[in-house]
Amino acid sequence: MKSEIYDLLSQSSSIVSGEVISNHLGVSRVAVWKHIQQMQAAGFEIESTAKGYILKSIPDTLFSWQFGKRSNKIHAFNEVSSTMEKALAMAKDGCPNFSVVVAEKQTHGRGRLNRAWQSDKGGLYFTVILKPDIPPSEAAKINFAAALELVHTLNELCGIRACLKWPNDVLVENAKLAGILSQMVTEMDMVQFLSVGVGINVNNCPTGIDPPAVSVFQLVGRKTLRAQILSCFLDRFEKRLTSDSLKDIVPDWKQKTITLGRRVKVKTTRNTYEGLAIDIENDGGLILELADGSRQKIIYGDCFHTEG
Ligand code: BTN
Repeated sequence: MKSEIYDLLSQSSSIVSGEVISNHLGVSRVAVWKHIQQMQAAGFEIESTAKGYILKSIPDTLFSWQFGKRSNKIHAFNEVSSTMEKALAMAKDGCPNFSVVVAEKQTHGRGRLNRAWQSDKGGLYFTVILKPDIPPSEAAKINFAAALELVHTLNELCGIRACLKWPNDVLVENAKLAGILSQMVTEMDMVQFLSVGVGINVNNCPTGIDPPAVSVFQLVGRKTLRAQILSCFLDRFEKRLTSDSLKDIVPDWKQKTITLGRRVKVKTTRNTYEGLAIDIENDGGLILELADGSRQKIIYGDCFHTEG
């Protein structure tokens, strides 16, 4: 019910009468008032006048009821160990496609290649659970789609011009603004589910120096509502996944990357390769031209730009 009240108030720039809300929801005005009081207690500035209610300001909160038609699939927590862990348990329990776990804070936020992900309050930490009907070889396209739609979201909402570093780091002038970690469970050569975990430095001040990190706040000098970023990203990501445009994801992704044409060092679990990044294949693999002129394809690794 809060979701509907919030929708009505946030979509109107003028006063919405208690009667309109109670008729719309089919509940008493007292019930509406109780929800309004809870929203006020959560920091939403809702003015109550003789004519009705008006929403004056929205705090930087992440309640599931702030996500309109998605509310039922958003699972918001104050603190979790890692949203990846929660997502894994939910996926195993059979949650629906495109369920989302989001948390204000993670005590054991995980990064790629077993690194930790600093997860202080103010950042945006979430995992989207997908049940795509694809073979595992296609999964990299979904990660590319997430990274690319993140870049578009940050540009649309905050005016930030971010770039991508292979495989899916979101950077602004070599500082890391966001990262993506995904986890896949397969069965009989098909993806059973895929958890796409996204960490974005939004209103926090990350302290990472290797690689250096930066936040939206540090770039634009004001706070941005994380719920707005999450909503916009989910809309774009879902649209990309359900439309034909997923097939163009690699060429689209290449338009935003700063890895191609660079000298790079890539550490995989077994080897370290140095060379010129010359292409990305359709399965997401990075093609390096090594010093002896031979080509090496790398599927998974940590990439460092060694010049410029
Ligand atoms: C990276 O190393 O660049 C990937 C970082 C991914 C961090 C996000 S935050 C939400 C989700 N939960 C985690 O524990 N990790 C991912």
